[in-house]
Amino acid sequence: MPKRLYIETVGCQMNVLDSELVAASLRRQGYELVRSAQEADTILFNTCSVRQHAEDKIYSALGRLKHAKERHPEKIIGVLGCMAQKDQEQIFRRAPYVDLVVGPGQLHQIPRLLAEIAAGSGPRMEVSLDRRAGSRSEVEQSFESYDPLREPALRTSAHQAYVRVMMGCDKFCTYCIVPQVRGPEQSRPPAEIEAEARRLVAEGCVEITLLGQTVNSYKYREGERTVRLSDLLYRLHDLEGLARLKFVTNFPNDMTDDLLAAVRDLPKVARYLHVPAQSGSNCVLARMKRLYTVERYREMLDRIRATVPEAGVTSDFIVGFSGETEQDFAATVELLRHARFKNSFIFKYSPRPGTKGYELYPDDVPDEVKRRRNHELLHIQAEISEQDNQPFVGRVVPILVEGPSKVQQKQRRHSHAPESGQTLDGHAPGNSAALAEGEEAATMQLTGRTTCDRIVVFEGGRQLVGRMVNVVVYEATAFTLFGVLAPPPAAPDVYVL
Ligand code: 5AD
Ligand code: SF4
Repeated sequence: MPKRLYIETVGCQMNVLDSELVAASLRRQGYELVRSAQEADTILFNTCSVRQHAEDKIYSALGRLKHAKERHPEKIIGVLGCMAQKDQEQIFRRAPYVDLVVGPGQLHQIPRLLAEIAAGSGPRMEVSLDRRAGSRSEVEQSFESYDPLREPALRTSAHQAYVRVMMGCDKFCTYCIVPQVRGPEQSRPPAEIEAEARRLVAEGCVEITLLGQTVNSYKYREGERTVRLSDLLYRLHDLEGLARLKFVTNFPNDMTDDLLAAVRDLPKVARYLHVPAQSGSNCVLARMKRLYTVERYREMLDRIRATVPEAGVTSDFIVGFSGETEQDFAATVELLRHARFKNSFIFKYSPRPGTKGYELYPDDVPDEVKRRRNHELLHIQAEISEQDNQPFVGRVVPILVEGPSKVQQKQRRHSHAPESGQTLDGHAPGNSAALAEGEEAATMQLTGRTTCDRIVVFEGGRQLVGRMVNVVVYEATAFTLFGVLAPPPAAPDVYVL
C-alpha cells in the first residue's frame, strides 16, 4: 500500500518551491499525496520563522496532532524549513511526539530519514551549521542546494514555476532571521538554472519566476567574467514557449542599471519589481542596517521610473521597529505617498531571537501603536492602488491567464467532492489540470496578470489557461481589474473582384 503524505506549507515562495520538491522526491519513493492530515501516515510541516505568528501557527497545528499520534503512533510527524533550523531540539521538547526535524539546507536527506524512522530508528534531526559554527565554506557546504528533478503534476500550476537562482542571504538586516536559517548567500551556476528552465518550458511552463532572497544580488563567476541577474534574463529570455519571466525579491542597493535595462529591453520580462523599502526614516533604516538612506531609495525609484516607466513597483514595510517614533512613522507615510507603490505588504515588527535587533534593541513600540500604524499604511496604500488602477479602465491589456479566480475555485469546492491531491495542500490550485472533465467548453471566472503584475478577472473558457489574451478593463478596484475578453482583431475586408 502506498504511504500517504500530507505536506502543509507556510511562508514565502521559497518554501512553496521547497515543498514542491520534497513532495516530488517522496512521490518517486512511492508516496501518494493526500489533502488532509487525517488521511495521511506522514505529516510534514514546512515552516517559516520570519515572524512569531508564523511559528505560533505551526506549534498549535502540532498541538492538535498530539492525540492523533497517541492513537496512531505509527504516523510520522515532521517539521521542515526555517523554524526547524532555528528551534532544532527545542521542537522535540515542545512537541515530544515529533519524529523529524530538518532544516532548509538538509531537505535532500528527507527520504532516507523517513525510511530510517519507519524502520524504528526513533526521532531524527538534520540541520545545517550555525553561521558562526565554522568557516564560510564549511557553513556554505552545510546548506546544500536542493533542486532535484520536478514532477509536472505536483507544481501548484501547470503553466507557472519557480526556479531558485540563489540560496541564503548575507545582508543581515537587524530584524531578520533569514540569514541564520537559510545560511550564506550562494548563487547557483547559470548552466544549472538554464537546464532547469529549459526542462520546465518543455513540460509546458509558460511563466518562470526566478527566486532569491536578494535575487538581484545574483553573481556567479564563470571563468573571467561574472554572470549577473541581467545576464541570466538574457540567457533565458529566448526559450521557445516561454511567455513571461519574473524575479523576486530585490534588494534596493543592487537595482543596477544593467538590470533595469534588461527589464526594459526584454519583452518577456515582467514590468514588475518588488523592492522592499521597510521604512522611510533614516534613523530606523540605520538601526535596521538596511545599508541605504531614504534619499538613496528614492534615487533608485527615479531610475526605475526613468528606465521602465510602466513598471509596477511593490514594497514591504515593517511598522513599530524598535525606537520608531511618530516622526519616523510620518517619514514612512511620506515615502509611501511619494513612491506610489502598486502594492505594499505591511508587517508589525516581531522580535526574532538570534538576530542583532533582538540583542541590541528593545521591542518598545506598544502593540496597539504597531496596529494603528499598520492600518494607517494599509489604508493609504489602498487609496493609492485604487487611484493608480483607474487609468486602466477602458484599456486593452495583454494578460497571461493563470487559472480559475478565487470565487470560481470556491464555487467548485462547494459543488465537487474533494479529490485526492494533485496540488500541494494549503495552496490554491491555480492548476488547469484541477478542472473536471466536461468543463472544457463552459466559461468560468478566470484570473490572469498584466506584465506589471496587476490581477485581472474576466469570463472565459478553460482552454485559455496558460495563454496570453487581450482583455478590455471595465472596472478597477484597489487590487483587481475586471474585464472582458477583447474581440479578436477584425478580419481584413475582402474585395471580390
Ligand atoms: N518582523 C516583522 N516583519 C519582518 N520581516 C522580516 N523580518 C521581520 C520581523 N522580524 C518582513 C520584511 C521582509 C518580509 C519578507 O518580512 O518586511 O521584507
Ligand atoms: Fe532578511 Fe534583509 Fe536578507 Fe531580506 S535582505 S532576507 S530582510 S536579511
